Amino acid sequence: MLRLTVMMVAALGCAAVLTGCGSPQAAPAPVAHPSVLAAPTRIPGGKVGAAIRAGKRLFADTALGNGTLSCNSCHADYGTKAKKLSTGATAPSLIGAAATFPKVSVRSGQVVTLEEHIQSCIQNPLGGRHLAANDPKLVDLTAYVTWLSSGKPVSPGK
Ligand code: HEC
Repeated sequence: MLRLTVMMVAALGCAAVLTGCGSPQAAPAPVAHPSVLAAPTRIPGGKVGAAIRAGKRLFADTALGNGTLSCNSCHADYGTKAKKLSTGATAPSLIGAAATFPKVSVRSGQVVTLEEHIQSCIQNPLGGRHLAANDPKLVDLTAYVTWLSSGKPVSPGK
């Protein structure tokens, strides 16, 4: 009886090794939440740098919409800080946000790209019009928001 018990324990031990240690899947590396990441400091040169700078200016421009709000009204300090809104919602920090796209939009329930998400922000809450995919305003805003994810690991859907 004792021998049988020892054999059963040994067998269970083997099963644990097969499903646990023997598993080929390594645990995924932890990814810090975007809100705790630091903003990048260096804007690159050239045309991309110019687009990032133009996007940063647009970020605080109420003319993108109907003249009342800019992206900066909610995404504080040029998108580098989260802000609790009067509606109770929190506008997140956008540091690291671009690296999480494409993702399921909390608004539409559809998988969207960063550009599509920015378009939806321009239309509502800003009250602006839909822009063509190659509109310099959309390109510049995308450049700026993407720059805020410089060096962050790309993790679609996070
Ligand atoms: C009235 C407040 C408000 C304004 C103005 C606003 N946003 Fe947002 N934004 C939010 C809130 C709240 C969320 C989180 C819910 C969501 O994803 O819709 C968000 C989410 C986002 C996200 C997704 C972040 C993530 O981690 O998934 C991006 C990117 C973004 N906004 C960019 C912009 C840009 C660019 C503008 C200006 C064109 C803008 N927002 C204007 C409130 C605002």
